[in-house]
Amino acid sequence: MRSHYCGDITEAYIDQTVTFCGWVHRRRDHGGVIFLDVRDREGLVQVVFDPDTVEAFNTADSVRSEFVVQITGRVRARPAGSENENMNTGKIEILGKEIAVLNKAATPPFPLDEYSPVGEDVRLHYRYMDLRRDEMQHNLRFRHKVTTHIRNFLDQNGFLDIETPILTRATPEGARDYLVPSRTHQGSFFALPQSPQLFKQLLMVSGFDRYYQIAKCFRDEDLRADRQPEFTQIDIEASFIDEEQIMEITQGMIKGIFKEQLGVDLGDFPRMPYSEAMTRFGSDKPDLRIPMELVDVADLLQDIEFKVFAGPAKDPKGRVAALKVPGGAELSRKQIDEYTKYVSIYGAKGLAWIKVNELENGVNGLQSPIIKFIGEDNTMKIMERLDVKNGDIVFFGADKAKIVNEAIGALRVKLGLDLNLLEKEWAPMWVVDFPMFEETSDGGLTAIHHPFTAPSCSPEELKADPVNALSRAYDMVLNGVELGGGSLRIHDQQMQQTVFEILNISEEEQQEKFGFLLDALKFGAPPHGGLAFGLDRLIMLMVGADSIREVIAFPKTQSAACVMTDAPGVVENKNLREVGIQLRPKETK
Ligand code: AMO
Ligand code: AMP
Repeated sequence: MRSHYCGDITEAYIDQTVTFCGWVHRRRDHGGVIFLDVRDREGLVQVVFDPDTVEAFNTADSVRSEFVVQITGRVRARPAGSENENMNTGKIEILGKEIAVLNKAATPPFPLDEYSPVGEDVRLHYRYMDLRRDEMQHNLRFRHKVTTHIRNFLDQNGFLDIETPILTRATPEGARDYLVPSRTHQGSFFALPQSPQLFKQLLMVSGFDRYYQIAKCFRDEDLRADRQPEFTQIDIEASFIDEEQIMEITQGMIKGIFKEQLGVDLGDFPRMPYSEAMTRFGSDKPDLRIPMELVDVADLLQDIEFKVFAGPAKDPKGRVAALKVPGGAELSRKQIDEYTKYVSIYGAKGLAWIKVNELENGVNGLQSPIIKFIGEDNTMKIMERLDVKNGDIVFFGADKAKIVNEAIGALRVKLGLDLNLLEKEWAPMWVVDFPMFEETSDGGLTAIHHPFTAPSCSPEELKADPVNALSRAYDMVLNGVELGGGSLRIHDQQMQQTVFEILNISEEEQQEKFGFLLDALKFGAPPHGGLAFGLDRLIMLMVGADSIREVIAFPKTQSAACVMTDAPGVVENKNLREVGIQLRPKETK
């Protein structure tokens, strides 16, 4: 139907006759001459219709935005002064000879020929229209380029692309499962995979040696800007390999993608133990673009009267941390109140602060509601430890360490962005030496990565002190986003059982849920390990989007629904009966 894409018709084609198809992006009537901008996936081209080609002129006059047209015309140079340097086709225009309307279009739900603020619900309702927009076309093409790069890279490095099932048993990654009822086994359910974790390990047992998959994963968890219930992993596993090699290969892949697609050299990825990341940044995914750090001051505050600080300072599970913010003394009371509200999301009960106005006047040059509680001596010692300067503000968090880390860690990032304190554009890193387990609120233990992660110690040592045991896991972090994570796996059945025991999974439950894995580990499982990247997050960071919904063709909303297809939807009773399900009356709150 066409000889060229609209966006490809450059001055190289001047005086040639071309035929192209696309959507009417814009129609203008300029004193008896009709201008159409016609758009396809490669871009726009400007077409002019003169009244002397009567039939074509009349058709061009009748078309409206988003009509689908086929046009034949001659390429000519634009009149001097009307060139557009920003367009590939900006030096030419087409003198239209023939135009056929291939399809009409109703008035679009939002204009596509100019920027206009449109609510995300409307965009997602008419996603097929939203995807016609330049940014969305760019984002999805960019995503294609990255996945192509990844496939080539992994192929060249000997990784085989193998698919794993979607209808399967639960694979624990810490979220709730999406369940699918079985018709042929009434009362039983499949779970959609939270990741291909167990299958990729079994492929190693089968001897495939190097596997990858660009795999859909499903997790029923609370959504945020960088989380979707259905998302894509670049999932990788290899045998007879250690963490050094896995980190080298995957770091090489990410560096290559940035170099080729953005021209960015990410440099070396520093490595930081988990404990250091928590102490210095209050986070296991520190944003190293921001120079500020948390500083412990509990030792100075144990003996003061002020319980808010002294309590956590004396509590072995407590933490009192200070955060110095350069230039922060300019924050108003209202702004400080807003930050206090922000940290309360993370459970902080307050946000004490000290402004440094005139350090040369000692404690008199400081301004704060808490100096009277912590004492002048202690205050000055803290100022010294933090090496403050005039114009700084110091914030304090005092509580259980978990709350202080989350609250002040998040505050650090928010202030870094709000006050524009970023020191570089890209800050990749590895976080290593994760603990194996963390304590749950009910006093039990849960795996920090997943229960298949190998510990750095023997089963005996693990059993003796599970809380302090470290794992052979690693996360790649970029600009404060966890881009990927992985580990060396347990390939020994005894060790796997030990971990299940520590997690309080009974022998019966082990057999019921993971019997196939424990069996497989008996039949000569090789040492193996791997990693999975969040593809959506990678693309989000690379295109500079604020949400992963901007890089997914048909994403779900924050409440895990698709407003376009209206999914999830109600199911007829007949279908429910087939799978043996009877709905309970809706619970009233
Ligand atoms: P993990 O659970 O860390 O590891 O997931 C790997 C990466 O997937 C991305 N990710 C998500 N992206 C969007 N929406 C979500 N809801 C979501 N959840 C996770 C993150 C994360 O780093 N099987 C292991 C990997 C392994 O050990 O090899 C796993 O799934 O970028
Ligand atoms: P209060 O005595 O509760 O009015 O607190 C005095 C100051 O300490 C206020 O600036 C509070 O915001 C702050 N504050 C209270 N609780 C905490 C806490 N857990 N961590 C840090 N600052 C706090």
